[in-house]
Amino acid sequence: MKKLYEIAKENAKNAYVPYSEFAVSAVLELENGEIFKGVNVENASYGLSNCAERSALFSAYSNGIKKEDIKRIMVYTDHDYFVSPCGACRQVIRELMPDDASVIMADNQGNFKEVKNTDLLPFGFTKEDL
Ligand code: THU
Repeated sequence: MKKLYEIAKENAKNAYVPYSEFAVSAVLELENGEIFKGVNVENASYGLSNCAERSALFSAYSNGIKKEDIKRIMVYTDHDYFVSPCGACRQVIRELMPDDASVIMADNQGNFKEVKNTDLLPFGFTKEDL
């Protein structure tokens, strides 16, 4: 957890946030210990901005990682309170990470809040609904 936290904190510096100045860092840990990082990447056309959680997950999948390879994700912001994934990210996390995977929110004081994927998005829409 401590190692994940240090990586997440350092990675927040990579956020491209000229508009909100609200840096978010997400670090994905695989079952084999491998790490994939993501940050929020904003755009002058605001709606095209991408959240850190989705950046991390899309990076992992782009490199051949599959759902069952993923253990947990940590979301870090440089604030003394927890920031939880937005609705769009919850939907993507719900589909791309295992049901029982952990989503860990981390503040800049080193506090953590851990939630199970399915608890983060109750009654989520999934491929079983199609
Ligand atoms: N943001 C994330 O990266 N993840 C979230 O789950 C919440 C919001 C970003 C989007 C935008 O760049 C900034 O935080 C402020 O909304």
